Amino acid sequence: MSRVTIPMLREKRERGEPIVMVTAYDYPGARVAEQAGVDMLLVGDSGAQVVLGHESTVTVTLDEMLVLAKAVRRGADSAFVVCDVPFGSTEVSDAQAVETAVRFAKEAGADAVKLEGGGRDRLDRIRAIVAAGVPVVGHVGLTPQTATALGGMRAQGRTVESAVRLVEEAVGVQDAGAFCVVVEAVPAEVTEVLRRVLQIPIIGIGAGPADGQVLVLHDLLGITEGRTAKFVKRYGELGEAMVAAIGAYAAEVRSGAFPGPEHRYTAAPEAVEAARA
Ligand code: KIV
Ligand code: NA
Repeated sequence: MSRVTIPMLREKRERGEPIVMVTAYDYPGARVAEQAGVDMLLVGDSGAQVVLGHESTVTVTLDEMLVLAKAVRRGADSAFVVCDVPFGSTEVSDAQAVETAVRFAKEAGADAVKLEGGGRDRLDRIRAIVAAGVPVVGHVGLTPQTATALGGMRAQGRTVESAVRLVEEAVGVQDAGAFCVVVEAVPAEVTEVLRRVLQIPIIGIGAGPADGQVLVLHDLLGITEGRTAKFVKRYGELGEAMVAAIGAYAAEVRSGAFPGPEHRYTAAPEAVEAARA
């Protein structure tokens, strides 16, 4: 498969062909997603919780995100790689935002960066990053980096005020130069409005039908422990399969069944003789 490009994503939207995006945080994650034929990989800052064990996305650092992004890029031949800019890496100034975005593009080979929010300073950052030559994906609706200010991890666009703000922010993000926007945890009817208003592809998560969908890899694989969001669908139970496989290994080590003869190396008898001497 040839490398996915921004014009290809635009054409998919125009043809009504859904865009498939999934998160990835490491090389094997990128490899399996590539083999499954996804269009876009998101090095989400959800990796903070999913693979680094943070409590939220807020505490993950730029350096941590760059490690994840580089590993994903090494595993992605054709998929379009988008990297989340972590909280604190764009808030100070346009210059800081450009520096951060350029690091993802230059050091990690990211095709684009994703920025949360559609407030005035966010739009300035998007304009600055796009002007510097790094494509930007927007993210509106539930924006986990600033969820505390939104009243927690809850759906957005459900009240008059929230729905109006959502549309304004989405249009703002598009007009600032984002080529695509993620819409998270929003009523499907409101997403439908956004689809009529916007010209850029909308990638939904918990937002009903859109131009594309994204899910967290470990959620869809069934590795995530405990409660997940309403919008998550588990397509496998790999967590159980992993525990079972490691449990079987542990049992065989303890019983002596592993390693078997087929897992051993052989040596010439003279070599064994010499080793004994
Ligand atoms: O970090 C992430 O996984 C995301 C998606 C849920 C859109 O931002
Ligand atoms: Na994110």
